[in-house]
Amino acid sequence: MRRFKKRHIISTREFTRDEIDCVLERASELEVYARGERRSEMLAGKILANLFYEPSTRTRISFEVAMKRLGGDVVNFSAASASVAKGENLADTIRVVSSFCDVIALRHPKEGASRMAAAFSSVPVINAGDGAGHHPTQTLLDLYTLKKEGRLENLRIALVGDLKYGRTVHSLAYALALYNAKIFLVSPPSLRMPEEIKKDLREKGAKIYEVEDIYDVIGDVDVLYVVRIQRERFPDPTEYMKVAGSYRITAELLRENRDVIVMHPLPKTDEVERSVDALPQAKYFEQAFYGVPVRMAVLSLLLLGENGEKRENKITAEAD
Ligand code: NCD
Repeated sequence: MRRFKKRHIISTREFTRDEIDCVLERASELEVYARGERRSEMLAGKILANLFYEPSTRTRISFEVAMKRLGGDVVNFSAASASVAKGENLADTIRVVSSFCDVIALRHPKEGASRMAAAFSSVPVINAGDGAGHHPTQTLLDLYTLKKEGRLENLRIALVGDLKYGRTVHSLAYALALYNAKIFLVSPPSLRMPEEIKKDLREKGAKIYEVEDIYDVIGDVDVLYVVRIQRERFPDPTEYMKVAGSYRITAELLRENRDVIVMHPLPKTDEVERSVDALPQAKYFEQAFYGVPVRMAVLSLLLLGENGEKRENKITAEAD
């Protein structure tokens, strides 16, 4: 059963395929508003609190734009300038902020922070990234991108790079399993996907294959989904130095498969050669934009429920 209203969005593991499809359909309906071609007041009077305890460009801004494009308001918080600096714990911050607003997007360096926050919040909490854990709205926009720029069904996809600390690939792998994807995990040995996630994925019937060399699979995949090395999550900087620069997507590699598309949650550093940006295969900037309609979909579903838009139209019609 689809139930969105007042729900917390913590991990993609909790989604059914039907629910994901519902978000993607809603995102598609909202794309005209995301592009600013039409205006909506669907979320007028609603307030999103963006609580970011870690750096963010796309996630924070696209949540803000999504809310504003639907007529809602946003308050922004960054840990450095708030009472966190005075020693306040997350639970207290959440208790208070949730009494001020209608929905919270939380990014935090600790894995599990969003689930904990949800326990103290009186409004829906959206996990906007918890340490090396999960990043469910990124996955939803990744799936939307796949749907728009390629296909979702029976996909052959390589997840490339830091699969140990990369939360976007953890979340994405769970969702891809629902769509019967063939998933190649391509990473240096020390950055493999954690055993417990792989075990969990296998139990869910996911088809996963571990490889070290991208050249071994480039001819067999529809999508390369690349992530940067998550430098800030390495407990030991010398471990980072050992793997820095250990993989790179180049124009030469992409000549081996002209149909493959390249996705990346961004920010990218040196794991994608600059010249790839200009190739038609590079889809990461479109992917970043899709964060807006997808987050509009998520916000409207959480705040208004599944029939929210229809209800809203009816209200507008009555007012006219
Ligand atoms: C990602 C993140 O924060 O997990 N960025 C994003 O939200 N688009 C990926 C990353 O930081 O490498």
